Amino acid sequence: MEREQLIDLTRRALKLARDRTTDLAPAEHRVEATSYTSAGRHDRDRAMILASPQLVGYVSELPAPGAYCTKTVMGRSILLTRTADGSVKAFDNVCLHRQSQVATGCGSAKRFTCPYHAWTYDNTGRLVGLPGREGFSGAAIARAAKPAEAGRRPTTVTVKADGLTELPAVEFAGFLWVALDPGASLDVAAHLGPLADELDSWGIGRWAPLGEKVLDCPINWKLAVDTFSENYHFATVHQQTFATIARSNCTVFDAFGPHHRLIFPLNTILALDDVPEEQWDPFQNMVVIYALFPNIVLSVTIANGELFRIYPADRPGRSITVHQNSTPLDVSDESVAAGAQAVFDYAHATVRDEDYRLVERLQTNLESGARDHLLFGRNEPGLQHRHNAWARALGESAALG
Ligand code: FES
Ligand SMILES: [Fe+2]
Repeated sequence: MEREQLIDLTRRALKLARDRTTDLAPAEHRVEATSYTSAGRHDRDRAMILASPQLVGYVSELPAPGAYCTKTVMGRSILLTRTADGSVKAFDNVCLHRQSQVATGCGSAKRFTCPYHAWTYDNTGRLVGLPGREGFSGAAIARAAKPAEAGRRPTTVTVKADGLTELPAVEFAGFLWVALDPGASLDVAAHLGPLADELDSWGIGRWAPLGEKVLDCPINWKLAVDTFSENYHFATVHQQTFATIARSNCTVFDAFGPHHRLIFPLNTILALDDVPEEQWDPFQNMVVIYALFPNIVLSVTIANGELFRIYPADRPGRSITVHQNSTPLDVSDESVAAGAQAVFDYAHATVRDEDYRLVERLQTNLESGARDHLLFGRNEPGLQHRHNAWARALGESAALG
């Protein structure tokens, strides 16, 4: 992000902090409790996510040709590779034989040998080894290679007669993106719009990745996303943790189509009143949170690029959050790496033990039917924006009024 823009955001944040207020939406907003509990809405939410470009990781997870990583997205296991020409490819991580996963974890490998009967694929997805070849005809292999969705709409990637099902994949703005439907087009530039350059400018997708932590929780996926959409709760839920460094109920809010950006000022920001603007170091005084439609949260600080990929699971009251973090620090130094991991552990434990644990009880209440709606305040513009964007995408009326 340009310094001038950062300074401008800092001015706005400082003014809000000084005035003990926050950016406000024009009105309050109400959302039906059933949007977190109904099976119909759950199915529409899943379809919405399936139809949207999916950010699945940092480009630094595939640092060089021969690198690979695996990702799970709404129960789908996906293998991503960087091939000899440097391009990124993605495949359903499903063996043509009896559907074992052919790869796990991440690392460097040009070939993937299925752990079950040793069918072997290269990193462009082609089947290059098949022990007991006489047991399988070319026609049967070609039939197995047909993607499940192939009958529904034409694929945008070439279907191999003898290989893993390829999914549209691209690296963009420092992140790895896939389309979960082989027939979907993947136009991430159009998806991100004016945010693309800004996200790219942070470089967080090129910072050193620190691994993945998974939370499988009895909460609707939107309830998980909601916890990242306001800092009104900091003073209560995070009294002993985040609230010791960041202000509560104080947010700069900007919308970018279906996405938005929040600036959470740190407590130190008030000291800038006594410092000339030329000497401001904006990043010492704020956390930047991006909400990417429909299910991604990015949190950027001077030393961390956190990524939360939040997915609906098998029922409305269950979701999977995949939490990743990257750092610009030099993690080849063991003590630096240990310190970065400790920060990641702390951030993860806070989300797990403070936010998610609390909203488990919201889910129970929502499912009880005791009240028919939730109220979002004017001081929760990010929350309102997320729900409006989802409602618009689903063709539903945004609010109860
Ligand atoms: S399932 Fe992969 S080789 Fe049999
Ligand atoms: Fe929180």
